[in-house]
Amino acid sequence: MCGIVGYVGRRQAVEVVVEGLGRLEYRGYDSSGVALVGLDGRLGVEKRAGKLANLRALLAARPTMEATVGVGHTRWATHGAPTDRNAHPHTDCHGRIAVIHNGIIENFAELRAKLEADGHKLASETDTEVVAHLLEECAEEGLAEAMRRVCRTLKGAFTLLAVSLDEPDVVVGARRNSPLVVGRGEGENFLGSDVAAFIAYTREAIELGQDQVVELRASKITVTDFHGAPAPTRDYHVDWDASAAEKGGYDYFMLKEIAEQPRAVADTLLGRVGPEGLLTLDEMRLSDEELRGINKIIVVACGTSYHAGLIAKYAIEHWAGVPCEVELASEFRYRDPILTRDTLIVVITQSGETMDTLMAVRHAREQRSRVLAVCNVNGSTVPRESDAVLYTHAGPEIAVASTKAFLTQLVACYLVALYLAQVRGTKSGDEIAGIVARLTEMPSKVEEVLGTVEPVRKLARSLADERCVLFLGRHVGFPVALEGALKLKELAYMHAEGFAAGELKHGPIALIEEGLPVVVVAPSPTGQRVTHEKIVSNIQEIRARGAKTIVIAEEGDTAVEPYADTLIRVPAVPALLQPLVATVPLQVFACELAAAKGHDVDQPRNLAKSVTVE
Ligand code: AGP
Repeated sequence: MCGIVGYVGRRQAVEVVVEGLGRLEYRGYDSSGVALVGLDGRLGVEKRAGKLANLRALLAARPTMEATVGVGHTRWATHGAPTDRNAHPHTDCHGRIAVIHNGIIENFAELRAKLEADGHKLASETDTEVVAHLLEECAEEGLAEAMRRVCRTLKGAFTLLAVSLDEPDVVVGARRNSPLVVGRGEGENFLGSDVAAFIAYTREAIELGQDQVVELRASKITVTDFHGAPAPTRDYHVDWDASAAEKGGYDYFMLKEIAEQPRAVADTLLGRVGPEGLLTLDEMRLSDEELRGINKIIVVACGTSYHAGLIAKYAIEHWAGVPCEVELASEFRYRDPILTRDTLIVVITQSGETMDTLMAVRHAREQRSRVLAVCNVNGSTVPRESDAVLYTHAGPEIAVASTKAFLTQLVACYLVALYLAQVRGTKSGDEIAGIVARLTEMPSKVEEVLGTVEPVRKLARSLADERCVLFLGRHVGFPVALEGALKLKELAYMHAEGFAAGELKHGPIALIEEGLPVVVVAPSPTGQRVTHEKIVSNIQEIRARGAKTIVIAEEGDTAVEPYADTLIRVPAVPALLQPLVATVPLQVFACELAAAKGHDVDQPRNLAKSVTVE
């Protein structure tokens, strides 16, 4: 999820573009760059790894190019490490076309191979660069028509902006499954990945639809579909202030990131499911031979990522048949774990900088075990020090409380478990394709849950004066209960505890008293019939002792209805995938309770987004 800005008008383009990038820096900040169509007929491309400040310093050291047309980009790396060379914009062989991109081009490898076979020289590791060379190949048709032709050959999710010396008064944009919005000015026009890019100049916006190309001139905006036919757009007035614009109109980054989960889940699946439904995780860099030789997996992580690991265990053992342990990173190396060359350590970390997790990686590698990192930040320390990496594609997660990263960690771990099953033959191709097909339905299932959370918000506000909430779950619902409790602790500063529901009778049931709110994550009544029956009994037990039962249950689960004071419905999904839908109400619950208490939702007290100390 990168920041994108385009400008055509009367101002110095570099000032408008860099100002816009500054407002979008939260969307991605491992490198940035600009492309300016100079009034002197030159194409000026400047780009730098690191924060936007590095680009500003570079531009300040250069004589300003007189340009009133330009594009800019802040990158959140997906393909290719965050280096100067991989920073956007990318250009064609002749340096006459420059392109910036947000998203993932699934079929870039085959496109790149054909371009190189046709003699093109590509300089970066990115998927984006292929677009500049593809535009070069049909440049004679004009930039907009060339963009339409190229977009028809691309698969995946993309927002693209391009400029060309052949048409110095235009910026051409295109979008599929990735945001792009037009800012309409007076004698000037803007493009942005969201309105924050241009809100300093205009509040008149045009929302672009799926599979559309926009030709932006200072006094004319033309929008077509990918085949050149005029396309419908929606004009609207932006009434957010600049700060709200950076949050996409949400009050908090956390709410924005909760809402981004369907896209994040879809992006994490992109490019990893082959044509016949089998998996292609070649970026993982562990050979099939190595994976077949693994006789134990230890998942190591902290906090929310640890909860993702607890769920991963069920998938790895159930689908791949590999013994799997899950360890807290802060405990792992101090217990002298038995590690061999055939032990695969899977570390899960959103930031890639958590010191506890990094020290676990170093310990494992000293013991000659191979390490696979599941990480959301391309080029961060943990993946750099691991043998292999599978990146989640959640985009930058700004709020301290992890939400979209957690769901994408689950997806990545499901993919690892399925890939192990595929390679080791513990599941047939049809079985894997069937599970993968259900996984690809999950973005819409998460979207469905997001549409029903208003009652959850209301419930949360009603509990603002409570001192404690308990969370119960069984099977994969147990780690979900732990995650719900952690969210409440870190956001509402309330005591909250997650339990395996079967443990109630071994002590915790003594905590139950009149009016105590207890959230219960009910397993699937079909996929987990036995544990479902048991949790219904658990709900009766705690209700009989006065608990206020809040039950998260699948559509159609009628057994829980008589015992639920509040019933929160989620779509029926395969049992192992239920955490993807059951976690979302708990995220919203904690966020709303924190807001009701007047807490800083995005920056809770005492916490940091990345804990880089042990
Ligand atoms: C989750 O909401 C917390 N912010 C925290 O527990 C976090 O998951 C933990 O610190 C691990 O961070 P990481 O995924 O970046 O390694």
